Amino acid sequence: MNARASCMALGLLPLLLAGCSERPSFEPAQINAAPIGKGLPPGFLLGTSTASHQVEGGNTNDWTDWERGTYPDGTPHILHRTPSGLATDSWNRFREDVGLMKRLGSNAYRFGIEWSRLEPTEGAWDAEAAERYRQWAHTLRSAGIEPLVTLHHFTLPRWVAASGGWENPATVDAFERFSGRVATLLGAEVDWWCTLNEPNVLAVFGYLDGVWPPGKQDERAMATVLAHLFEAHARSARQLRALDTTDADGDGRATLIGLAHHVRVFQPSTGATSDSLVSGLTDTFFNESLPDALRTGHVSLVVPGSVSLQRDVPGLKDSVDWFGINYYTRDHLRQDASPSFSHKYVPAGRDTNDLGWEIYPEGLYLFLKRYAAMGVPLVVTENGMDDRTGERRPYFLRSHLYAVERAVAEGVRVRGYFHWSLLDNFEWSEGYEPRFGLFRVERDFGLTRQATPAVETFREAARNLGLSPTP
Ligand code: FCB
Repeated sequence: MNARASCMALGLLPLLLAGCSERPSFEPAQINAAPIGKGLPPGFLLGTSTASHQVEGGNTNDWTDWERGTYPDGTPHILHRTPSGLATDSWNRFREDVGLMKRLGSNAYRFGIEWSRLEPTEGAWDAEAAERYRQWAHTLRSAGIEPLVTLHHFTLPRWVAASGGWENPATVDAFERFSGRVATLLGAEVDWWCTLNEPNVLAVFGYLDGVWPPGKQDERAMATVLAHLFEAHARSARQLRALDTTDADGDGRATLIGLAHHVRVFQPSTGATSDSLVSGLTDTFFNESLPDALRTGHVSLVVPGSVSLQRDVPGLKDSVDWFGINYYTRDHLRQDASPSFSHKYVPAGRDTNDLGWEIYPEGLYLFLKRYAAMGVPLVVTENGMDDRTGERRPYFLRSHLYAVERAVAEGVRVRGYFHWSLLDNFEWSEGYEPRFGLFRVERDFGLTRQATPAVETFREAARNLGLSPTP
């Protein structure tokens, strides 16, 4: 009996999802020969993605404090002790950045709104910052670039963090109020909303691994936080629908609401049942908890032996008009006795990015096929690579767009692809060492932006989609 048949015989869905599904293999010759972008459907959003804290500069939030800190053994929280500081100074250079987007030929831009700027203390509202965000959305729309706005991308205002952050149910109330205010502020310019970025990554890094603020290692807290985040999404979506009633792009819809979900392929390292089982369980928890909750309205979070959280969340079912996928890599798992039940690694000889993450474009295709069953269009809200020379990014971009186009050809509704990122930016714990930008940012030379070779690849895709990059 082959692996797939044995999984089916065992009736183990997680095993089937993670360990036993058939895996395609893309041929480089086919990828190189494909006319990149030609297979994307009309109206496709081809853009780039950033997050407020990673590019704006000058923010004051829970990360600002974390960035100064160290672990008990003295290791700094941020590689080389480099705080986000000025980031790419996009707070002041937004117009220049829009010029780069036009050069790419992009017709969409995903960016974040920084809660701590708008509401620096509870109930306050910074009208100047609000006006700047409104101007940004307006500038983008006037340039023919659809704004897709993220309301929460990992950072919290200090006052929210001080009152318990996402562990405190009051944060869900506060985020709901904030969402309503942003809907009123930007509704006339914005239709595409992304309530949350990667709840699973935030919960695991902040509350299980303890490597992001607030630096906890507590499985129950992690589950509570995830459940609160799912609820915050549902309530934010309700506010956005109620208060943004202007159809800014004239397509008949005033709001198109989704969120960005981080997915990873979990590959059992051997054919052993223990490796398949642990890969399946990890896949169920990490990849499936959120889509499952969106499909059913019921949150089910299970960590064998320690957590079983079951909760109905009103408004969660049918809360998305599209589903966002942030895809970067595949992990190989070998079962062991550690708290996560497995050791994660990349086998020798694999193609990796400069952070050591395996490059596996087939994974993007697999997730698009899998989440077609969500019943809403899919958007690749992030995908990119740390490439410090910039020389390998053209093929990365080509191969991942190939994955998207293959899924589209097989009938999957994909509405957009946003490359991470427009610019090299502050990469959280890794500081400024990684380079994810289509445009390289020289920190020692006044944060100047320089095109990397993948800009040409992006422009080729844009042209094939019928867009017009500026020279
Ligand atoms: C994603 C995050 C994004 C960026 C990329 C590299 O998980 O959403 O902010 O750090 O990874």
